[in-house]
Amino acid sequence: MSARLIDGKRIASDHRQSVKQAIAARRAAGKRAPGLAVILVGDDPASQVYVGKKIQACENVGLVSQAEYPGADISQAELLALIDRYNEDPATDGILVQLPLPAHINASAVIERIRPDKDVDGFHPYNVGRLAQRVPLLRACTPLGIIRMLESIDEPFRGRQAVVVGASNIVGRPMALEFLLKGATTTVCHRFTTDLAREVGQADIVVVGVGKPGLIHGDWIRTGATVIDVGMNRLDSGKLVGDVDFAGAAERAAWITPVPGGVGPMTVAMLMSNTLRAAQLRDAETA
Ligand code: GUN
Repeated sequence: MSARLIDGKRIASDHRQSVKQAIAARRAAGKRAPGLAVILVGDDPASQVYVGKKIQACENVGLVSQAEYPGADISQAELLALIDRYNEDPATDGILVQLPLPAHINASAVIERIRPDKDVDGFHPYNVGRLAQRVPLLRACTPLGIIRMLESIDEPFRGRQAVVVGASNIVGRPMALEFLLKGATTTVCHRFTTDLAREVGQADIVVVGVGKPGLIHGDWIRTGATVIDVGMNRLDSGKLVGDVDFAGAAERAAWITPVPGGVGPMTVAMLMSNTLRAAQLRDAETA
């Protein structure tokens, strides 16, 4: 292996530490701790793990978290009413509804119900639109965490070829907007892309978030590229792997993220900093 590892765990820990200090400073100045409401519908095991990590991180940095665990049979109207409750709660700065939601619930309607200034996931069309128009406010956690990781290795963005594989609302689309904001020449690949190997082979920076182990072959990677793997797949053996053939890609890349311990911890750290930011925005409004 010739690539260097981007240690998401350590970078995330540094970010959490600075959020923790900012929250302590707020409290010392007589302000309340920021509050995050986390809503997990149903009992999807992966979502339970992610939500557990988010709540644990809140405790770690001094955020006040409130968790709601409605059953998978909650109606859309009931879920919207729950969101309204936190929209109106002055002690709640951020609201997160863990995705995916059960099929009978319209996820877009749920996301749009969250007040944009409490949308710490950055999924509301208002916040996506702000990012698209180069005036970002609350930004989607995984893409923002990837930008912070790339900044930590002094990745030069301007004029570089950034290739995003996967066009989801959570990762690929906002990731492409982040790269545009940074001045990278940006390509988004998806299920209808005809020659994925060629697109990936042109990338100085490649971000993959699809959820298919082995999707990206190691020998597709351009020598010296930076490889960010958002995939999180559990093999039958129990091993956790990303979407990229790690061993093969690490032979050619200059930098690569491990799975686990790469992007995952950064997503959680960005949720913490977004919630602090949302509290600061609300302070500024009421000042
Ligand atoms: N499901 C997978 N990733 C995310 C995320 O970043 N936020 C939420 N709310 N749900 C997710």
